[in-house]
Parts: sequence; C-alpha cells; structure tokens
Amino acid sequence: MPYSEEFGDFYYSRADGRAECRHVFLAGNGLPQRFADKQPFVIGELGFGTGLNFIETWSMWEEAAPESARLEFHSFELRPLRRDDMRRALSAWPDLDGKTAQLVSAWPEQPEGDVRAEFAAGGRTLSLHVHIGSALERVRAAGISADAWYLDGFAPSRNPDMWSEELLGTVADRTAEGGTFATYSAAGWVRRNLQAAGFVVEKRPGHGSKRDMSAGYLASRVLSPG
Ligand SMILES: C[S@@+](CC[C@H](N)C(=O)[O-])C[C@H]1O[C@@H](n2cnc3c(N)ncnc32)[C@H](O)[C@@H]1O
Repeated sequence: MPYSEEFGDFYYSRADGRAECRHVFLAGNGLPQRFADKQPFVIGELGFGTGLNFIETWSMWEEAAPESARLEFHSFELRPLRRDDMRRALSAWPDLDGKTAQLVSAWPEQPEGDVRAEFAAGGRTLSLHVHIGSALERVRAAGISADAWYLDGFAPSRNPDMWSEELLGTVADRTAEGGTFATYSAAGWVRRNLQAAGFVVEKRPGHGSKRDMSAGYLASRVLSPG
C-alpha cells in the first residue's frame, strides 16, 4: 500500500482504491455519462499520486466516451513519485497493465518539471499534463477551465494546504460553467471552504467504511483573493 511518510497517510483506500475512484471521483462527477457532453472534456485533479485515478478514468473514458471524444486531464502534484514507486503501486491491478506500462514509460525516473503525455485510445486522443509544484501556485497559473474536479489531497487534517479556502477559491476560478467537483472528504471546514468558493455542496454516501463524501457543482463565481 503506497503510503506517504511526509503526510502520514495512504494514497488511496486500503480496501480498494480503484472502486473508491469509481465511486467517489467518477460517479461523484456524473462520469462516464458526461464524457459525451463536451469536447474536449477537461478534468482537473488535486494530487496525481500514483496515477491510479488517471488510469481508471482513461479506462472508463475508453469504454464509454463517443468516437469523436477528447479528454484533457490536468493534475497538480507537489511530490511526484519516482517511476519505480509508481510502477510498484499500480502493479496491484494486473488488468490495467497495458495502461500502466504506457504511463510509466512516459514518466521520468524522477520528475523535476511538468510531465506531459498523449495516449491513444481506440482512435481517440487523451492528453495528460501533470503540473509539478504547490497546487495553489500551479492551479493559479494554469490556463484551464475544468468540467470536473477530483479533489484528492491527503486527509484534510494532515494536508490542510490542499483544502484551503484560497486553493478551493482558485479551483472555482478554473471551473467551467456547469462544472462539478467530487471528494472523499465530508469534513465540515472543507465543505464550508467549497461553499465560500461558490460551489453547491451535497453530502453523498461514501465508499466502503466512509459514511459520507462530498460532491457538487459551481453555482456562482466568487473571485478569490490574488
Ligand atoms: C491522496 S494522494 C493522491 C492520490 C492520487 N490521486 C492517486 O490516484 O494515486 C494526495 C497527493 O497530493 C499531493 N500533495 C500534497 N500536498 C500538495 C500540495 N500542496 N500541492 C500539490 N500536491 C500536493 C501528495 O504528494 C499526494 O501525491
């Protein structure tokens, strides 16, 4: 199980990280159904980690998106994993091996700057851009307008920077009309920060042993400071 000594937390659910990804991040954002709505469909993610959410999204997109679909996946990561650690973490899912091999071969041994790659999926193209650095700085600098956000920092109590009012306000500024977010967290202060940023926040049943999660959509634009 990939674990961060720095943050004292696991990268994903110890029970089943892949099922958690489908339940929380994909279903929480109305995916894969919404892949048909807009081309390109743009996903933003806070915390690339092992790349599991990306690979699972790629699989679902390949299965369910229309033939002319395009997907842009932007993820924000402060401490990129070394290639070998990523390969080891993803080896837990042998049926994802083909995609894991493509991601790992595009991933530098020890990334120092942004990682960009394009992958082919049944005649369609999927692009990945991992913005390396502090999420606050890099989301602010990113010229994106995401249709769906995966908010996947470590537990809010251990990684408060990833859930701050300032960062979530910046996320709202980088969200398209009708854009949505989903997160495994239902912490009260995280929900309040999301509301302050302009998101309508709903509590939904969580995955596995987690009673609740949060998901919602951008209701109004509130300009964040700076
Ligand atoms: C729960 S893990 C993400 C798991 C990931 N989505 C996956 O599919 O494996 C949280 C990630 O957030 C990153 N992180 C923590 N603080 C950050 C910050 N301030 N800016 C950007 N990334 C940060 C960590 O390095 C870690 O990779």
